[in-house]
Amino acid sequence: MVTHLLTITPLLYIVHLSHQVCVDVPSETEAVLGKPMRLTCIDCLKREEVKAITHVDWYFMPNESWSRTHILKYANDSCTELDSAFNRRLLWNGSQDLQDLSIWITNVTYSDSGIYQCIVKREFQFSYFSHSISNMKNITLTVIEKASGDPTTLYSEIMMYVLLVFLTFWLLVEMVYCYRKISKSDEQAQDTATNYLAVPSEQKDATAAPVTE
Ligand SMILES: *[C@@H]1O[C@H](CO)[C@@H](O)[C@H](O)[C@H]1NC(C)=O
Ligand SMILES: *[C@@H]1O[C@H](CO)[C@@H](O)[C@H](O)[C@H]1NC(C)=O
Ligand SMILES: *[C@@H]1O[C@H](CO)[C@@H](O)[C@H](O)[C@H]1NC(C)=O
Ligand SMILES: *[C@@H]1O[C@H](CO)[C@@H](O)[C@H](O)[C@H]1NC(C)=O
Ligand SMILES: *[C@@H]1O[C@H](CO)[C@@H](O)[C@H](O)[C@H]1NC(C)=O
Repeated sequence: MVTHLLTITPLLYIVHLSHQVCVDVPSETEAVLGKPMRLTCIDCLKREEVKAITHVDWYFMPNESWSRTHILKYANDSCTELDSAFNRRLLWNGSQDLQDLSIWITNVTYSDSGIYQCIVKREFQFSYFSHSISNMKNITLTVIEKASGDPTTLYSEIMMYVLLVFLTFWLLVEMVYCYRKISKSDEQAQDTATNYLAVPSEQKDATAAPVTE
């Protein structure tokens, strides 16, 4: 049993290392008229799910009361745009490992605002059975005439600095705490050492005696 574990562990490490780090970030929800827009859809895989067969469907509905249209399909390493309203403005932009299933809208128009749905289906093939799971992400896109990015970028920059300062401070506190702990345990070690050295002199002589003989 133990030898089994020992032989499996390095393999798991290899699988783990070759596996890209996946972070589930939500999509941007504001697009600028005439500019490209990336609709981000990320569905992270667990380590054991890497070999799944993945199908992705993107749907669009102008508003909640309108029925959805199937706008794009990704299967078997190929992507098909299905709705003529987008007029070849959709591009697949997913990653090789199919954890990122994003698309681009090149040249956004006002009619692109609405709700986008990214539906991921993964089928896992095992030797005797298959199992599939499905995941859905909704993105509500609004189209604006001009980039009003400044306040948000300023805000995120400020947040970044605040975070940096906070992290630095935290690191300092942590270092001081560790330093104190170390010097304290050093002191304790010294204390026990001096205690040991402070044994009554007769006893010391008694223990030392055989050595000198
Ligand atoms: C929903 O979108 C459709 C198509 O763009 C439009 O005709 C309809 O008026 C919209 N309905 C509402 C409630 O906004
Ligand atoms: C994908 O390819 C497999 C075989 O490689 C085929 O059986 C299947 O029908 C294909 N699916 C689609 C959606 O094209
Ligand atoms: C897809 O995204 C990558 C970065 O994630 C980018 O470098 C590349 O140009 C994009 N492809 C298209 C067709 O936009
Ligand atoms: C974007 O679309 C508008 C309106 O359909 C068109 O006038 C413009 O030339 C397009 N721009 C690009 C870069 O395709
Ligand atoms: C996405 O939107 C659809 C239709 O509006 C809704 O039925 C579904 O529950 C939503 N899914 C998520 C994950 O928000």
